[in-house]
Amino acid sequence: MRGKKMVRVLFVCLGNICRSPMAEAVFRHKVRAAGLEEKIEADSAGTGHWHIGSPPHGGTRAMLAQNNIEYAHQARLIMEDDLDLFDYVLTMDDQNMRDVQALGTGKAVVRPFLDYAPQSAVREVPDPYLVGGFEGVYDLVNEAAEGLLKAIRAEHHL
Ligand code: 4NP
Repeated sequence: MRGKKMVRVLFVCLGNICRSPMAEAVFRHKVRAAGLEEKIEADSAGTGHWHIGSPPHGGTRAMLAQNNIEYAHQARLIMEDDLDLFDYVLTMDDQNMRDVQALGTGKAVVRPFLDYAPQSAVREVPDPYLVGGFEGVYDLVNEAAEGLLKAIRAEHHL
């Protein structure tokens, strides 16, 4: 049945307003550019409830606008079911990983997003919410999104 099933990817951070929505938007943009939107879909969610229903942070929106990436999202909380509904769950930092692991397990492969940016000097995407640094976050996310798409295309023969 190869090729019949959507590959589903979920990006996870704390608030679901800065890092994971940026990752989702950049990844979707690459998926669209590759003509794979019928094969690969993406979403994002947070481990914290504070911003449920909110649009992405202005810093994330600015980086996406600068790069001509259209995107709309309302923050949501990750749920245990997500671990079965998605094929890949990518966490931005080690605390996100611990929080996701605490939800349980499912069919999803749960990995740090930056595993897909092996050349990068850091292993976690820094949280820009209080200190800024959205440009650096964008560069990391862009590199890892590229690596992730390559890996998914190889693993799923796309
Ligand atoms: P994010 O950034 O996890 O990249 O969306 C944050 C957003 C909000 C908060 C922390 C991080 N907060 O504490 O409200």
